[in-house]
Amino acid sequence: MNTSSSKASSAASKDAALAEGEPALRFLTCGSVDDGKSTLIGRLLYETGQISNDSLQALETESKVYGTNGDSIDFALLVDGLQAEREQGITIDVAYRYFATGRRKFIVADTPGHEQYTRNMATGASRSDVAVVLVDARKGILRQTRRHSCIARLLGVGHVVLAVNKMDLVDYSEERFREVEASYHQFAQEVGILEVSAIPLSALKGDNLCVHSKSMRWFRGPTLLEYLETVDAGCPYVGDFLRMPVQLVCRPNQHFRGYAGTLSSGIVKVGDKIAVMPSGRTSMIDRIVTYNGDQQQAVAGDAVVLTLTDEVDISRGDVICADEQRPEISDQFQANVVWMSTKPMLPGRPYIIQQGTQRTNAQISTIKHRIGMDTLQEMSARKLQLNDVAVANLSTSKPLVIAPYAKETRLGSFILIDRHSNETVGAGMINYGLHRAQNIHWQSINVTKEQRAHSKGQKACCLWFTGLSGSGKSTVANALEIKLQKRGFHTYILDGDNVRHGLNRDLGFTDSDRVENIRRVSEVSRLMVDAGLVTIVSFISPFRAERRMARERFDDGEFLEIFVDTPLGICEERDPKGLYVKARRGEINNFTGISSPYEAPERPDIRLNGGTLQPDELADQIIAEFVRRRFIEDIQS
Ligand code: ADX
Repeated sequence: MNTSSSKASSAASKDAALAEGEPALRFLTCGSVDDGKSTLIGRLLYETGQISNDSLQALETESKVYGTNGDSIDFALLVDGLQAEREQGITIDVAYRYFATGRRKFIVADTPGHEQYTRNMATGASRSDVAVVLVDARKGILRQTRRHSCIARLLGVGHVVLAVNKMDLVDYSEERFREVEASYHQFAQEVGILEVSAIPLSALKGDNLCVHSKSMRWFRGPTLLEYLETVDAGCPYVGDFLRMPVQLVCRPNQHFRGYAGTLSSGIVKVGDKIAVMPSGRTSMIDRIVTYNGDQQQAVAGDAVVLTLTDEVDISRGDVICADEQRPEISDQFQANVVWMSTKPMLPGRPYIIQQGTQRTNAQISTIKHRIGMDTLQEMSARKLQLNDVAVANLSTSKPLVIAPYAKETRLGSFILIDRHSNETVGAGMINYGLHRAQNIHWQSINVTKEQRAHSKGQKACCLWFTGLSGSGKSTVANALEIKLQKRGFHTYILDGDNVRHGLNRDLGFTDSDRVENIRRVSEVSRLMVDAGLVTIVSFISPFRAERRMARERFDDGEFLEIFVDTPLGICEERDPKGLYVKARRGEINNFTGISSPYEAPERPDIRLNGGTLQPDELADQIIAEFVRRRFIEDIQS
């Protein structure tokens, strides 16, 4: 093996490749723990001359302490950056490495093999052109191999290399290699992985990694490096037409207005006719400004500032597109979603969706099915747990500029973010926009909600009671309605128990059902406020996320969250319906406060001390609060 010459040539050509500004090939390595991923990447880095003498010396020393390879260099140590990992001998986070040879630049994501780290795998894969799936020649295809291959496939990785590693431990047997290759091919076909290239190698010994193995002359294919250098990275999914998600509107002075962003696909030339999506307004490219001055054209991957010949209203999140090839606009679409949070995904719960430079609220409206990771079989699911992959319908609170991931990776992929913790909880790829969304329009209605309320002599609002079962919500709501009626207000009470007899009779008390329960009642209460009513809602509504969702359905000042704060002990003592007794006996599942959580409001508009005061007094407190806030303006207290 001639490492020194490949080192020298790659060092010289590295700069050339970088200077040409060609996009790097992004690949990821995946497989089970111990399949040798880190060793493989470590050796690739070493043999392509990326390791300085200093690091090499340090590595030799460390190899003696932590290495699993006797006195020889343990290349895995190069990659497993974290001390804890070294000691455990596993990789626990995606590590990105950059390297280059005379022919290409590379970015490699080393994804972990442990089941619980599928999240990292998914984040690594969503940006990769090639997946190098490692298997141990002795063990063959394992559950993890199938799982990771499926995720790579679902996240749209175009090419798979089956790296049959540790061939040295099976005496470089062609028969064994063919066996493993055949079983993977069969699986790949079943799950729709179209392009598989199998390479027998030994990452430890360097066989077929960068140089052809003398021990496996029967193998006539490329080495792994040759494959990576020559594979057509022009990922078919990137897209052909001009798309530039606007990152920033630049207005340094009155005379200049430009739109900054990176072309996610296609080419743009001065004079091109463009459309700004989602508005659909058209204009022409006036200038293409870059750090190196004006240019006549720019291509996918270039960061530019575009100016237009017309004054068009454009903001961050809009997408500048080729006029004749416009992408779809939709607020509902079907997608493959990978769930990455330990908190389950519940349909109907709002999350933030980030797609390109666009950001808005989104919810999974239906889970079509979960995908079993071993064979891609369809399974039913009402929620998604950590590492689940599912086909689902999503709806967003404003229309997004989208494309099927298979056609345009950038407009076709998104992440979901938890609104409370800001954590990335899901990633997905759009399959297609739902046409039903395009065929439903807003019908304009002339009478406004203000007029409807005004004709009743009131201001419409939603008074949302939350609290444990037995806290007194319904009793106080009832007392309040009587007082309001006496004063001539037009009111209505939506009560959990009552609504569950009709509209929501199909729902139980699982987390998913409660989310749907609150989603429906918040829609109904919004309609009632629209009708001009003072609407009183009395539902346990145990989750912050859904109470927030309810609040967001309303205009400012229209929604008051009233927390009936009664300690669990008192609710249980009262036990008006005998449900706590049953729950304690285990006869009722998921009982709020006992076997299902109640997330108390952090900043309710009104907090009522339900443990000490009488319902009538509490209702008076609400009325007093209305007066103080001038919430109901013409109230006679
Ligand atoms: S919510 O959690 O989905 O908002 P909702 O207010 O509709 O609950 O219904 C709560 C009422 O259902 C309670 O007042 C109680 O009478 C009854 N109930 C029956 N089973 C349960 C349960 N497992 N948890 C809470 N309430 C229950």
